[in-house]
Order: sequence, then structure tokens, then C-alpha cells
Amino acid sequence: WEAKLQLVQRHVRAFPDFPKKGILFRDICPILKDAAALKAVIDLFEEHVRNMYQHVDLIVGLDARGFLFGPLLAQRLGVGFVLVRKKGKLPGATVSVSYDLEYGKAEAEIQEDAVAPGQRVLLVDDLLATGGTLHAAAELMRKQQAEVLGCMVVIELKELNGIDKLKPHRVFSLLQY
Ligand code: HPA
Repeated sequence: WEAKLQLVQRHVRAFPDFPKKGILFRDICPILKDAAALKAVIDLFEEHVRNMYQHVDLIVGLDARGFLFGPLLAQRLGVGFVLVRKKGKLPGATVSVSYDLEYGKAEAEIQEDAVAPGQRVLLVDDLLATGGTLHAAAELMRKQQAEVLGCMVVIELKELNGIDKLKPHRVFSLLQY
């Protein structure tokens, strides 16, 4: 477990002042570029899920970088994958919720038939910052009467207190900064 975690950690870069001055941006692209590091992320996610949960119906991934890790985890677990997208990207009947961004508002959306009442789902994204998007995704699951077992991210930015915003949902992260 520790060796895999270190492998993942070595493949996260920090860029000062991106996308704006004062922000230290954690970049996960090197993880994806390295086959062993990407496999380590999915290994650790899989082990966590198998240790924590008896039964999972679906992995729900968040636009956009949740789409990089979510389907790989879903395949490992032998379950399906559902997309939470930014508004206007999904065809057919959809359900949406709006949430606050640093400046202005955004909307998260799923297809109405994406999850069924009572289904047990895990939310996956690359990084937890303020928790706004994951919170919106959890709200979509609540609207559709799916049960959120927890949230999984590669990186948690602790100073932004996203964990508190997501309560009572549990958040599992591989790396914390
Ligand atoms: N990295 C990637 N995405 C982000 C970050 C970051 O540091 N902060 C907020 N979103």
C-alpha cells in the first residue's frame, strides 16, 4: 500500500500561480502518463472499496477528470459507470442542480435514467477542493433516491475544508495537501 501511494505521489506536480496568481495547482497528468502510477491509483481505490463496502451498484464520475479514473475503477469492480456532466452536454431527459462557484454559478446534470432508486453509488473525482461539485453530484443522487456510499478522490486540498461541506458523506483520498 505505502509503495503504491509513494508511486502516485511522485506523479503529482505543483504549478504556482495557475490558473490564477496565488493558487498552487496540483497536476495529475503525470499519473495518467505513467502506466504503473495509474494502475497504482486504481489498485488503491479498488482495495479501499473492497475493504469498505459489501455491494456497490455504480461508479459515478464527475466532469471532467472524474472520467479519467472512474471508468477504470468501475471495470475493476465489475460495475457500470455514470457521468455527472456540466449542463447542456447530455441528451434526453436530465436532472440538474445548480451550485456556487468562486465566481458565479454552475449546473451539474445527469440523465434521468442514469441511476435508479435504492442503487448504491460511489462518487469519483480527481481532486477535492471546496467540495462544490461533489456536493452537487451528491444532491443529484439524493434527487434520484440513490444511496451515496462515499466519495473517492486522488487528492484532497485540506485547507479548503471540502470534507466539511460533504458531510455526512465520507471522503476517501489517496493524497492530502
Ligand atoms: N488542481 C487541480 N484542480 C483544482 C485545483 C488544483 O490544485 N484546485 C482546484 N481545482
